Amino acid sequence: MTQPARILVIFGTRPEAIKLFPVVHALKADPRFECVVCVSAQHRQMLDQVLEIAGIVPDHDLDVMRPDQTLDALTANLLTGLGRVMDEVQPDRVIVQGDTATAMSGALAAYYRKVPVDHVEAGLRSYNIYHPWPEEVNRKIIGAMASLHFAPTATSAAALINENVDPTRVHVTGNTVIDALHWVSAKIEAQPALAAGLAELEAKFAGKRIIGVTSHRRENFGEGMEQIAQAIRRIAGRPDTAVIFPVHLNPNVRKVMNERLSGLDNVALIEPLDYPHFARLLNIAEIMLTDSGGVQEEAPALGKPVLVMRETTERPEGVEAGTAKLVGTSADTIVTEISTLLDDTTAYEAMARAHNPFGDGQSARRIVELLAHEIGQQA
Ligand code: UD1
Ligand code: UDP
Repeated sequence: MTQPARILVIFGTRPEAIKLFPVVHALKADPRFECVVCVSAQHRQMLDQVLEIAGIVPDHDLDVMRPDQTLDALTANLLTGLGRVMDEVQPDRVIVQGDTATAMSGALAAYYRKVPVDHVEAGLRSYNIYHPWPEEVNRKIIGAMASLHFAPTATSAAALINENVDPTRVHVTGNTVIDALHWVSAKIEAQPALAAGLAELEAKFAGKRIIGVTSHRRENFGEGMEQIAQAIRRIAGRPDTAVIFPVHLNPNVRKVMNERLSGLDNVALIEPLDYPHFARLLNIAEIMLTDSGGVQEEAPALGKPVLVMRETTERPEGVEAGTAKLVGTSADTIVTEISTLLDDTTAYEAMARAHNPFGDGQSARRIVELLAHEIGQQA
């Protein structure tokens, strides 16, 4: 029997972990592959929350997170650290996901060693290099080096082909975040205790209409965060409404939100939720207000209206499906849009329909078959 292909899967932040655990599970279950996991730990606590629920013990952990780390120090540490791991592991192929500093550095370190790098969630484009920043450029850099491009949708595949990427290297696989969401939903159904930690808040806010909030984008730091905080304050002034806001651990987010929103009766500023609890929040919220990429993909799958606090999005599919709406970061606009959804049932129902533009939950399986085909070990 031929040797299994050694695949080094690299990730470092919460969303990469969520979107790659289905791929890691699928690779580990397949004898055609030897799956080696390296985490950069660009995030620490928020990464470990995902590793724990997904049952993944990394083979390598670079532990690079430093408080309020700068992009250049982070990137330099990632590149040298990931290069060292590659020299030790000697992988046949490397997998990275998305657009973080870890993904970009992992792809670059692989390219420097002429190891083929496969890109999960390829081809997302906002066509604005400062929105989202620095992710738009990170994914273009990865795209320039990738061997296989796993595009989540036809739109992202077309974006790559328009950039003259060889169409035979581009595959529409769906987004693995839907695989992750299905997996965690099944797990919660089997073990409801996994998502029971919000019960106290749910009781406190019983009868109120829940708005779930997340925010962390670098381009929103400063004035954007101030506006978002002001909008939440005003929305929470409505006695029929409550806000549940798991606050990202980035100090640039926490400082503003703690200063502006602490002590308000209708606002629960809480620690980042593990994935089962966040899935629960997605279910109990009437509206999601977010600048997150992943939440824009999960909300349409659950038919949850999502107001996106960004100027542009590289995920137009949610907007086209009608479940997502771009609202920017002006407090006035955010308050108007939320009030419309709360007060106008027709407007709400027009958005609250489940769509699956980002996939059917089978993306990891497709990716693994495409990899098997690539290494010539197709079953
Ligand atoms: C990173 C990614 C962004 C992704 C986001 C997901 C880059 C450049 N940015 O942004 O694309 O959307 O993750 O959340 O790759 N921190 C902790 N504990 C944690 C995580 C973060 O304390 O578990 C704090 C640290 O002070 C850290 C800071 O947050 O220095 C910023 O983390 P970093 O990974 O640089 O950026 P994010 O804003 O999280
Ligand atoms: N998420 C989570 N707990 C939280 C907030 C978000 O598990 O408290 C999940 C969410 O379901 C989504 C992912 O984290 O899958 C999004 O991560 P984030 O918003 O940090 O990054 P982005 O997607 O914007 O890169």
